[in-house]
Amino acid sequence: MVNNANSAAPDFSFYVCPQCKGILTAAGATLQCSACSHSYPVQHQIPDFILEDLTQSTNPVLRRVKWLDLLARVYESKLWYPVALRLFAGRGQISFAGLINLVREMVGPVNGVVLDVACGPGTYGRRIASASRRVYGIDISRGMLEQGAAYARREGVTHMQFSRARVETLPFRDAVFDAAICSGSLHLFQDAGGALAEIGRTLKSGAPLAIVTFTAGRAGLLRFPRVLRLARKRGGHVFSVSELEHLLSEHGFTGCKSNVYGSLLACRAQKG
Ligand SMILES: C[S@@+](CC[C@H](N)C(=O)[O-])C[C@H]1O[C@@H](n2cnc3c(N)ncnc32)[C@H](O)[C@@H]1O
Ligand SMILES: [Zn+2]
Repeated sequence: MVNNANSAAPDFSFYVCPQCKGILTAAGATLQCSACSHSYPVQHQIPDFILEDLTQSTNPVLRRVKWLDLLARVYESKLWYPVALRLFAGRGQISFAGLINLVREMVGPVNGVVLDVACGPGTYGRRIASASRRVYGIDISRGMLEQGAAYARREGVTHMQFSRARVETLPFRDAVFDAAICSGSLHLFQDAGGALAEIGRTLKSGAPLAIVTFTAGRAGLLRFPRVLRLARKRGGHVFSVSELEHLLSEHGFTGCKSNVYGSLLACRAQKG
């Protein structure tokens, strides 16, 4: 178990087996579970906890993982994020820098260990990681994770680690995180309630959770019923504020505070 949030070297001992939560032991380029004997490859310092072939999944989001791998290259560039943000938030609602600040504020001044769920290239995790705040980013897309690790190296960010994992079975023990971020992804999960319960399992009591997702607001693309229908058809869920807050309280979170920016919904809650 990593207790030293100041350590810059990759330390895989914070991870446990996602299947049985057993202890993992490094053996060559793999992490091996001593309890159920599953073996997880480590490539470019990124452990891979997904053993199944996602391209064969019945879940359309998981099946499109190769597309996400390709998107990783441009995801944080001017070609994608600012354009998507402008389309969904609407004009003058919130900028990329504003969104980073908002997530930073929702996480608050906590030190310790932070989980960045479906982190993409570590969009938020990289920007809030520090010597007193180690961030663990998980995502299903190796392309996103490799891109995030490359950005982190380039930017000198040494306190964020990436692993390939699914939100449904996180490779972490119960109650180890001091905060979590779940941005741009809750609407993609097939079972959003189950995902919140699994994130909650890994959070300490009172730990903040910062969510950014989509809603059918008064501005931005999702105010158009046709776009809304298309988003839903492609496997995305569009939350109302009350639906998200209800889901959070159903899965053990309290003190929800929500803000809407066009078709973006930001919500901060706390693990009860
Ligand atoms: C729009 S990106 C968000 C990236 C980043 N968090 C952000 O806000 O910029 C959505 C991410 O969710 C990931 N994802 C989708 N389903 C997932 C699942 N079941 N478990 C983990 N990650 C998932 C995708 O691979 C993708 O990188
Ligand atoms: Zn195991």
